[in-house]
Amino acid sequence: MAEASIVVTNIRKSYGTTVRALDGIDLIVEKGSIVGLLGPNGAGKTTLVRILTTLLTPDTGSARVEGYDVVTDAGIVRQLIGLAGQYAAVDENLTGRENLVLVGRLYHHSIADSEQRARELLVQFGLVEAADRTLKTYSGGMRRRLDLAASLVNKPPVLFLDEPTTGLDPGSRLALWKIIRELQAAGTTVLLTTQYLEEADHLANTIVVIDKGRIVAKGTPNELKSLVGGDVLEMHLTEPSRVNEAAQMLRSLGSGEPVIDSELGIVRLPVTQSADALQKAVRALDVAHITLEDLQLRRPTLDEAFLKLTGHRAEMV
Ligand SMILES: Nc1ncnc2c1ncn2[C@@H]1O[C@H](COP(=O)(O)OP(=O)(O)O)[C@@H](O)[C@H]1O
Ligand SMILES: [Mg+2]
Repeated sequence: MAEASIVVTNIRKSYGTTVRALDGIDLIVEKGSIVGLLGPNGAGKTTLVRILTTLLTPDTGSARVEGYDVVTDAGIVRQLIGLAGQYAAVDENLTGRENLVLVGRLYHHSIADSEQRARELLVQFGLVEAADRTLKTYSGGMRRRLDLAASLVNKPPVLFLDEPTTGLDPGSRLALWKIIRELQAAGTTVLLTTQYLEEADHLANTIVVIDKGRIVAKGTPNELKSLVGGDVLEMHLTEPSRVNEAAQMLRSLGSGEPVIDSELGIVRLPVTQSADALQKAVRALDVAHITLEDLQLRRPTLDEAFLKLTGHRAEMV
């Protein structure tokens, strides 16, 4: 087994007497891996990140980062980690370059070293053109890149990213994904939180699904997907009245029960051998002269994954 970078043991955390944010979390993140902590709003993701980054102390349990306890060795842990949050922790009134230099100074690097590191990061994050503009003029994607750059000033071996792409447009999201993969290639351990199954799937070596302060599933993206039932084949019939007939016919091709929407004429079939199931479904419908308005093979949504894993919908948390 590879060496562990982050070890979390039975962490609990409540806010006040009523909100139990974390209810016994155990987690190991191997060095150099990306772990995706996947869960809906309110699941406890940020609370765990805040504990691991020494900003909050757990009620019970313990956690180590690179061998150091996040409570008793908090000062050392802070030297070893970077944190980029959903809400950029940078100063609006400073330029991109000034923000990065400031962070370097906060880490007690010399002015010359801080300026040199800022230059490197501005190049790496494609922010050279915008370097001397105040952050007020930056787009959402540029801010997020700068926030990530700021978390890397001290070249931390362990990086925490709390919903790094929430609210970003698809182009900016892809740009950040690329950077995160490059960081991993350079040896950085990454723990990221996300509400998007697609993001966890794309980036993470291991996905940990968290719900109501508990881990409800854990595995590689493929393991988790087969647990959830693979893809969803969504068929929109030309004649909505034939949904029951179609669902009946296609039942044996699915990895679970088909779900129908009689009003819209939609049959949703969970499938695992997706390409094969798609071909067979199209053929079967064709033989029965059931025509399709639209056909889509898609990944399960986080909602569908949640429904399967927890028995309740994500937004009901
Ligand atoms: N400072 C706080 N005071 C009281 N309750 C909080 C506080 N921060 C978070 N919570 C609650 O703790 C739970 C977990 O929140 P959080 O860790 O922010 O989840 P996530 O990041 O997954 O959305 C939620 O029910 C949230 O409302
Ligand atoms: Mg959060």
